[in-house]
Amino acid sequence: MSDAVIELRGVSRTYGDVTALRDADLTVRRGELLAVVGPSGSGKSTLLNIIGTLQRPSAGLVRIAGHDVSGLTDRELSALRAHAVGFVFQQFHLAAGVPVLDNVADGLLYSGRPGAERRRLAERALRRVGLGHRLQHRPHQLSGGEKQRVAIARAVLGDPPLLLADEPTGALDSVSGEIVMELLRELNASGTTVVIITHDRDIAAALPRAVHLKDGLIVHDSQDSRDVQDSRDGVRTEVSL
Ligand SMILES: Nc1ncnc2c1ncn2[C@@H]1O[C@H](COP(=O)(O)OP(=O)(O)O)[C@@H](O)[C@H]1O
Ligand SMILES: [Mg+2]
Repeated sequence: MSDAVIELRGVSRTYGDVTALRDADLTVRRGELLAVVGPSGSGKSTLLNIIGTLQRPSAGLVRIAGHDVSGLTDRELSALRAHAVGFVFQQFHLAAGVPVLDNVADGLLYSGRPGAERRRLAERALRRVGLGHRLQHRPHQLSGGEKQRVAIARAVLGDPPLLLADEPTGALDSVSGEIVMELLRELNASGTTVVIITHDRDIAAALPRAVHLKDGLIVHDSQDSRDVQDSRDGVRTEVSL
């Protein structure tokens, strides 16, 4: 058995005559922290949505946490998503007017757990992101960085092996962005595989691995250049783009 959490082979996605993703091959192993980087429109969100099983590919093989996605019904996909994947988005997606504690606890609404347990787990997750003192605040009473930390607490509530973040710092000032990045690193250090989408090359360069997209193609994977380097006894053959 491989320890791959994500395996894509020849994955493409078209929308009418637009090819958003072209023949993508990608393997991500358990415990990795990587960036998917590229300009606007390069296919980053499409790639993330396919990895997160929110979208099906037009062609190719997608295996997430060992499951071949094409063999699963929509219902089975939802179950896989609920157990295996946490999502964080640029615009937070918190319910307006709802206290932070319930915003997070509602992430377990369909888990079959009773309300008291959902809130207990939510409180623990909020403490984990440093917001134990904001449980009854409403989203509009929080800074952008705090909102994103609430969204992260909700995403990791059920302890998914895989966390997918689409431009998580895109709506934040640089200090809040740093805090959110640090939190994502901590979650990775405690065992979660984390994929961060960004158009910011500096953020990508600061992570252990960066996969570059351009016009729907994976044009560079820092992992490959390291492999080439290793296999050639330290001769540096990194491709520059
Ligand atoms: N639902 C959709 N319908 C039609 N075209 C889409 C849809 N989603 C994305 N696209 C197109 O696919 C390409 C890649 O989009 P996207 O994956 O959102 O890129 P990114 O996240 O890198 O900005 C773009 O040209 C975009 O316009
Ligand atoms: Mg996008």
